This record gives sequence, structure tokens and C-alpha cells, in this order.
Amino acid sequence: MLFGGRSAEHDVSCISARHVLAAADPDTYEIVPVGIARDGQWMSADSSAAALAVGSLGDRLDPNGPAWDPFPRLAEMSAEGPVVVFPLVHGPFGEDGTLQGLLEMADIPYVGSGVLGSALAMDKLAAKEIVTHHGLPQARYRGLHADQLTEKGSEGHRATLESLLSELGPRVFVKPANLGSSVGVAPAGDVTSLDAALADAASYDEWVVVEEAVTGREIELAVLGDRIPQVSGPGEIRPGEAFYSYADKYETDAAELIDEPDLAPDITVGFQEMAARAFIALRCSGMARVDFFLADDGRMLLNEVNTIPGFTPISMYPRLWQKAGLSYPALIDRLVDLALERHARRRRNTER
Ligand SMILES: Nc1ncnc2c1ncn2[C@@H]1O[C@H](COP(=O)(O)OP(=O)(O)O)[C@@H](O)[C@H]1O
Ligand SMILES: [Mg+2]
Repeated sequence: MLFGGRSAEHDVSCISARHVLAAADPDTYEIVPVGIARDGQWMSADSSAAALAVGSLGDRLDPNGPAWDPFPRLAEMSAEGPVVVFPLVHGPFGEDGTLQGLLEMADIPYVGSGVLGSALAMDKLAAKEIVTHHGLPQARYRGLHADQLTEKGSEGHRATLESLLSELGPRVFVKPANLGSSVGVAPAGDVTSLDAALADAASYDEWVVVEEAVTGREIELAVLGDRIPQVSGPGEIRPGEAFYSYADKYETDAAELIDEPDLAPDITVGFQEMAARAFIALRCSGMARVDFFLADDGRMLLNEVNTIPGFTPISMYPRLWQKAGLSYPALIDRLVDLALERHARRRRNTER
């Protein structure tokens, strides 16, 4: 079980890891926790277990302690029985295909999407472009590269800002293409606030997405499986702030997570179909949480697909499955089975 990592979601990952560790059946699994510290250093199993016992990794407990060298140990463990890696690391260098690539190279089965699915779902702009191709409704958007924003103060710059507002406004949302946890996400309603929001978003990623601000409800569904995935019932997020911000997600208790939202049956079915289609279009496998807006004008809009959703006890993903009759430990079993099946399939394809 890999957890921690270099992203803003380090702490959430640690909480998720603690609960997966507690929930997984000890008669079935021997779980080896492997923490990745904020500086990217992989920790040994012993210091990882010690860190989980006290809460989160924070900084490395023992900076001089032995670092984990993943490949030799994994090979040793594989000789004793099947090894599956559960990458519970959110955001860049965890959810974006890089870690998945490392695991492919090592030929180790792992939970969740592969390299392509992870990378596509992580990049909000690439995901939007693919999903557009598949005809799924989304908020109107435009992608920009940081290069297009350089000549600050120039007439061209002002014209770019004005055209974004007239095309997508009056209010827009600005976000870095490759991040999560609402970091760098901000609304804007005029040239000045848009300018500031773009500069901030472009400090996180060279690709930035600007989209129409949607007024409505935020609906999330859990997807589990592979080519023909299962989809849970819907959940709803009621942000405690003006939008579902970083503080709202992790710092305050103001946001409400509702696992039985009031939705007409045809709307629920529509979201379920869209969730499965988005999962398949983005080449996801294993698991994903698919997030939507139900706009006040009735439009059902895909927002984003998260390939490594939170696994804390209050997280939407395990909660939606619990609601559907799949307990937390049974969910882990299913994810591990899917990882082994996918690995066996890939092996058959590459060994030909
Ligand atoms: N187009 C939009 N209209 C209205 N609110 C939005 C829009 N895009 C994002 N938000 C708000 O910002 C939050 C974070 O944006 P999101 O695209 O989900 O990024 P992240 O990957 O950081 O979660 C959303 O949950 C929602 O509250
Ligand atoms: Mg989101």
C-alpha cells in the first residue's frame, strides 16, 4: 500500500491508508505500508508503519533511516505469493500515470487505472477533449497554455481576457489542468479577477482550463470494474463555501456529503450512464469517482473523473458502495481481484 506522496493531498492519503489498513481482511492480506514522504523519498515498511501509527507522515520521522528500494523487495515478496500494489497517492506523481508507469515497468499488479487512463483523467484539459469527442455534456470551456498569457498589460492580453469572459462568462472558473483538491481553482467575473486567477492557475501547471461557472448541485458517483463497470447510486456534495474549495474539503467541517440525494429516478439513471461512459472513454479501470454538476437550468454536466478517490471513512467513494451493499473490506477485495485480472490480461497481451 503506497501512501503519502508529494501532492497537496498528502494528508488525505495518509488518512485513507490508515483506514484501508484497518479494513482489509488480515487473514487474506499481509499489508506492507510504504510511505512516500513530502520530499518524494520512499520510506521503509517499518518507518511507514510507525508513521501511520502516529497519524500522518509529516516530515520523514527518521531522515537517516533506511529508504525503501521498491524493486528488490517487491521481487522477494512476489516469490511468496501474489503481490498487488494499492496506490493510495492522490494528484501528480500518484494519480497521473507516473506511479502506474513505474509499476508497469516492475510488472507488479496494481489497483486502479493504468498509465493512459490515469494520465487522461488527471489532465482536465485532455479529459475534456476526449469526453467532447464522446459526446458527453460538459460546461463550456477553453484550454490555454501559459505562453498565451505572457504579455501582461498588453492589448492582446486584455483582448484574451475579454474574449474568455464574453465567450464563457459572465462568471467563469479557472483551474490548472493537472492538479486536484481545488488547489489553484478560482471563480472570476471580470478582467481583473480573471487575470489574477489565470496567473495563479498557471503557477501550478502550464496548461489552464477556463470554463463557464455552473450554478447548480454537485453530484458524484462511484464506478467499479473494467470494460463493463458497475456504477453506484449518486451522492451529493453541498459545499460549505461559495464552491468546494481546499478549505472546504480538508480544513473545515462545513461541507455536507449526502449519500441519498433527492433526485428524480431518470436523472439518477442518466448520471449512471454518463459515469460509465466517461469511465470507458477515459480508459479507466478498477475504480473512479465521477463528478457532475446538475445545473439549475436542468443540464447534466460532467465535471471530472478521479481515478484515486479518497478512502477515508467519510469519503464518498467507499460510502456510496457501502450504501449499495458492498462493505469497505469487500470493496478492497474486489479492487484487488480487478488488479490481478487486469495484470493477467496485460501479460497475455505482451507475452505473445
Ligand atoms: N465550472 C464550474 N462551475 C461552478 N463551480 C465549479 C466549476 N468548476 C469547478 N467548480 C467548483 O470548484 C470545485 C473544484 O473544482 P474541480 O474541477 O472539481 O477540481 P479539483 O480536481 O481540484 O477537485 C468543484 O467541486 C466546484 O465546487
Ligand atoms: Mg473535484
